[in-house]
Amino acid sequence: MEKPQNRVFSGVQPTGNLHLGNYLGAIRNFVGLQQTHECIYCVVDMHAITVWQDPKELAANTREVAAAYIAAGIDPSTNIIFNQSKVAAHAELAWILNCVARIGWLNRMTQFKDKAGKDREKASVGLYAYPILMAADILVYRATHVPVGDDQKQHLELARDTAQKFNNDFGAQDFFPLPEPLIMGPATRVMSLRDGTKKMSKSDPSDYSRITMRDSADDIAKKIRKAQTDPDALPETVEGLQGRPGADNLVGIYAALAGMTKAEVLAQYGGQQFSAFKPALADLAVEKLSPITDEMKRLMADPAYIDNVLEKGAVRARALADPVIARVREIVGFI
Ligand code: AMP
Ligand code: TRP
Repeated sequence: MEKPQNRVFSGVQPTGNLHLGNYLGAIRNFVGLQQTHECIYCVVDMHAITVWQDPKELAANTREVAAAYIAAGIDPSTNIIFNQSKVAAHAELAWILNCVARIGWLNRMTQFKDKAGKDREKASVGLYAYPILMAADILVYRATHVPVGDDQKQHLELARDTAQKFNNDFGAQDFFPLPEPLIMGPATRVMSLRDGTKKMSKSDPSDYSRITMRDSADDIAKKIRKAQTDPDALPETVEGLQGRPGADNLVGIYAALAGMTKAEVLAQYGGQQFSAFKPALADLAVEKLSPITDEMKRLMADPAYIDNVLEKGAVRARALADPVIARVREIVGFI
């Protein structure tokens, strides 16, 4: 079976409140990779249900992530866009990999500890096993590169360990490539606008903590105006951002949106007050995000189009995954 050289796989969960962190840390980077790689972008609905999702909202949120992919500039005619639950091979490989990966590996996953909270016994089994499903997502296409935000680094390491152990255990040298994480740009970890020490997240109870892909220009301006900072002027150098998480976050967001480095942003704004920087950031954010938000709205008004993209993508995804899972069955000894 031919081995892919430059195959990208990544996924975003349809859990609502798609935000600037998802865009800058992940989706925007997906767009650029289309030029150089064969790309498979998935809406990971099976990951989403590891915590309770209202079925109607899950369907709407699935279409919204697909709309965000397309609106951001992913071309569904050259690349594959689909939702995970349509391709059964993900679940099938996940089971086999459940039997390869070790409990001790999962026990180290910090995201599970964060998401499960204090009452870990009440978390779903799926939430615990989630990183193995993620490994299966990637490996079932034998993908070589995985663009993600910084928070997924540990899960990617587990995917590599699982691939390696499968190859060793079954004497299937090089069968699964060890997927490389691509953690790119100055905003791999966008922080909450209310607390620069916490990650911007879909589940933060405060709407002011995040800019979403649905926000109007007014919402964006208001949230940036209220963003937590400190009373000092912006520093002249990147080192000057140390110990100033709110300031560091806004400079990082500006840099990512403008396609600059943080040093370049500070060369321009160093010494200025936030009262001058925040309106400039708000204008830039509106300029970059509003066209995407508008296009998402237009696409969401035509759910039949989105469903068609997802169905066609799933047909192409199955064509890639089916021979891999067939070979895995042989390797494992299933008849
Ligand atoms: P999720 O919302 O967990 O499905 O994440 C989808 C993608 O967005 C993953 O690649 C994450 O690493 C990335 N991501 C999520 N939150 C952030 C954030 N605050 N900053 C940067 N990237 C993020
Ligand atoms: N776990 C990822 C997140 O929460 C989403 C995801 C699922 C993913 N499967 C993946 C990302 C495979 C990259 C590759 O952000």
